[in-house]
This record gives sequence, C-alpha cells and structure tokens, in this order.
Amino acid sequence: MKTRFLFLAALLALLTISCKQQPSAPYGYTVKDNQIVYNVPPRPADQQSMLGFAAEPIEHVRVGVVGLGDRGTGAIWRMPYQEFATVVALCDLYPDRVERAQKVLEDLGAPRAIHEFSGEEGYKQLCELDDIDLVYLAVPWQLHTPIAVYAMEHGKHVAIEVPAATSIQECWDLVNTSERTRKHCMMLENCCYDFFELNCLNMIQQGLFGDIVHVEGSYCHNLDPYWDNYQGDWRMIYNRAHHGDVYPTHGIGPICQDINIHRGDKMDVLVAMDSDAFAGQATADKRYGEGKFEYANGDHTTTMIRTHKGKTILVEHDVVTPRPYSRMYQVVGTKGFANKYPNEGLALGGGDLGEVAYDDLDAEQYMGEAERDAIMEAYKHPIIAELEEVARKVGGHGGMDFIMDYRLFYCLHYGLPLDQDVYDAAEWSCLVELTEVSINHGSMPVVMPDFTRGEWDKIDGLKFATAE
Ligand SMILES: NC(=O)c1ccc[n+]([C@@H]2O[C@H](COP(=O)([O-])OP(=O)(O)OC[C@H]3O[C@@H](n4cnc5c(N)ncnc54)[C@H](O)[C@@H]3O)[C@@H](O)[C@H]2O)c1
Repeated sequence: MKTRFLFLAALLALLTISCKQQPSAPYGYTVKDNQIVYNVPPRPADQQSMLGFAAEPIEHVRVGVVGLGDRGTGAIWRMPYQEFATVVALCDLYPDRVERAQKVLEDLGAPRAIHEFSGEEGYKQLCELDDIDLVYLAVPWQLHTPIAVYAMEHGKHVAIEVPAATSIQECWDLVNTSERTRKHCMMLENCCYDFFELNCLNMIQQGLFGDIVHVEGSYCHNLDPYWDNYQGDWRMIYNRAHHGDVYPTHGIGPICQDINIHRGDKMDVLVAMDSDAFAGQATADKRYGEGKFEYANGDHTTTMIRTHKGKTILVEHDVVTPRPYSRMYQVVGTKGFANKYPNEGLALGGGDLGEVAYDDLDAEQYMGEAERDAIMEAYKHPIIAELEEVARKVGGHGGMDFIMDYRLFYCLHYGLPLDQDVYDAAEWSCLVELTEVSINHGSMPVVMPDFTRGEWDKIDGLKFATAE
C-alpha cells in the first residue's frame, strides 16, 4: 500500500514538472536544446495585420476613462487641455472616485462627463455605450487586457496604461483582438515622449550616432513612499507573487523605438537574472509582519536581449532599494553615446553636426553642457518643438504625459497610424512573463515570440505620422 502511494506521489510530481514546461497551448512554450521556445500559431483567417493601420478620422474623440485612482485622475487633469478630445464617460470601482473626477473636470471649466459607472463590472456598460470612441484604461495591471479586449469587441479603440499585458496569452489576446476588430490598441508608454529621449531619437534618425550597437533602459524607482496608494494593495500583491521584470515598458519602450523594433529589426533572444529579495522581503515584513508573506520579486532584475540585426539591449528593474530614480536611457552607437540618468550627457565621436559649434569632442568624456544644449536645441524633435511650451504648462511627468495624449488624439482626429501600435504593446509588455520564465528556468535563454508573425521588416523605420 505504502509503495503504491509513493509511486502515485512520484507520478504526480513528474506530471507537475512536465506540465510546468508546457503551459497554456497554443501560445505556450516548450524547452528545446536548453532554450525556451514560444509557439507562434499562424494568423487566423479573419484577422489582418495592424502594421501601419489608420482608422477613419474622428472629428472629436469621445473618451471613456476606466480607473480613476492616481494615474487615471492625472489623466482627467490633463484631458481638458486636449483640443481633439473630451471625456464623456467615467468609471471606477468606487462611485466617490467618479465624483472626484467629475469635480476635477468642473474645476477646470470642462463639461461633466455624461455617463458614470462604478463597481467591478461597470466598465462593461461603459464599453457598450454608443457615444464613445476610445476607452482609456488606468486600472490595476491584471485588468488591462480583459477590459481592453471587451472594449475592442464593442467597437472601441483602446489606450492602455503600462504594462498593457501581464502574460504572453494576454499579449496575443490584444494582438488578435485588435487585428480582428480593426481597432487601435495603444499602450500609453509616456516615457517615449520625454524631451531627452525624443531629441535623441531625432539625432539617431539623422545619423548622429552612426549605427546603434547597444541600448539600455530601466525602471529603478524606490516605491517605499507609494505602496499604500494602490487600491487594494494590487501592486505589492503582484510583486510579492512574481519573479521577473514586472514593469519593463518605461525602460524598454524608448530604446526599442531607437532601434526600430518591428520596423526593420526584432528582438530574438532574452536572458533574465534576478538578485534575491533582500530589500523586498524586508519591505513585506515591515508591511505585513515578519514572515507573513514570502516576497518573490528579486530586488534587482537584469534582462539582456539580442536583436536579429545583432544589437544588444539591457533592461533593469528595481523598486525596493533606496536608490535615486533612474530610467537609464542609454544609447551606444558607432559614432556617439547618450545617457540620461543620473546626468544627461552626450558624446559624439564623428560625423557632420552642421552649423552647431562644439569642442572638447574626444569621445572619452561627455561634451560640455553648453555644447550638449546647443546640439539638443539644433536637433530638437519636431514634436517637442511644436508642443514643448504647452506640455510644460499642462505637465504630467514634466510634460511627456500631455504630449502622449496629444499625439494619440491628434492621430485619431486626422485618421493617421498611431505612434505606438499593438505590436509595440505586446513586445514591450511580454517581458513580464518572459523574464519570469527565464529566471524560473535558471536564467535560460528565451526565443522571443514575434507578434507581427514574420512582418517585422515590412516597415522601414519608425515614423510619427503628421497630417501635413
Ligand atoms: N505611465 C506612468 O507613468 C504610470 C504612472 C503610474 C501608474 N501607471 C499605471 O496606471 C495604472 C493604474 O495605476 P495607479 O497608480 O493609478 O493605481 P491606483 O490603485 O491608484 O488606481 C487604480 C484604480 O482602478 C480602480 N479599479 C479597480 N478595479 C476596477 C474595475 N473593475 N473597474 C473600474 N475601476 C477599477 C481602482 O478603484 C483605482 O481607483 C497601472 O497600470 C499603473 O502601472 C502608469
């Protein structure tokens, strides 16, 4: 009897291990030759690529905002300054947060939203409305994809806070739904619109850095002062339960734009490694009591990626140690180097800089601040040149949030492709699962799924569409 029990227990253990290696078909993975390889099933017949997709112009974009906590309320503060959009519907779990948002609109002299919803499933009524064009989501991470899918299924474009998805299955849910419904699905990656990043992008596109060899980005932000702010403790609960880079998109978004991911290049292989949760465990112990919860997320998670065209990417995540805020943002090219945190610096080792005067250019150190500022001014991204003044006035992380919203509504108004498409949302968000899976397999390399299904080189470089 005892032998039979032991045999059954061993069989069960074996089954558990083999199931872990083949989760969630059809978009799951298998381990082959010491690599984790994700399935990429062919595109279903009723779907079309969303590369370069432009919807019919919308004269004035009617927006429904779901999630009115810290970030959603921030969006409400910015919205009345948008010339091409108006908030017409609001939804949160709690009715008092909806009323708080209405009050913000009133205080700014904007009309109150016509529709109000609350409760766990109020978003469904909002998505089903006939008089909205876009659902703007600022809810906890696990709600992003289910609500976005529901909205697209009900004929609405969606804009989703970061990360747009928390698993590979969810990334595919966004891609497949967007492709089938022909609705935009943009992730609201605001860091792509920060001044230094956009100006560097312009310089990269003008060839000042030569060929880009390596890029780095990170989210290093000690969240100690903020843990209490998240409704129902959702962020700590998520971080407690997961290894990996759970918040990768601020770091990876701008640098993927710099190297034209799915616009001529693609991310091929990823390897992730994390430290133990020294500070994370101490944070959880302080919060809940000694030993009450095990904190899984390593204090420092490092991810390395190699692209098809032979470039490398480094991404880091740390939200628990007492270090200064950093999104890194580093660009290494054959002729130049840029780094944003802790100090904005440029070093350019050659090439024609036109009329800009500079000296001290030995590429072993940053150029002087005056030269840097002159070059940044001369190569200011056209979007920054157009919007800088109003963006700084309206604000939102110094102005980048305003620019992000503006570009979204501008493109919808003129019927242009959006700056960030559903493949960006999937590629940048997929790190959440891929880093965890790599770490759980002893930092095994992961062959990254191609969400464009082989169309990553159909578009030649990133362009921000304009009406002129
Ligand atoms: N891009 C950025 O710079 C940035 C900054 C902060 C947060 N964020 C993102 O914004 C999102 C929200 O973060 P936050 O800090 O505002 O969190 P939060 O907890 O302050 O707000 C979340 C809100 O969602 C509401 N909510 C929960 N369940 C809901 C449901 N079923 N229907 C409707 N509303 C529901 C909550 O009541 C809460 O008001 C997250 O994805 C986060 O990563 C992005």
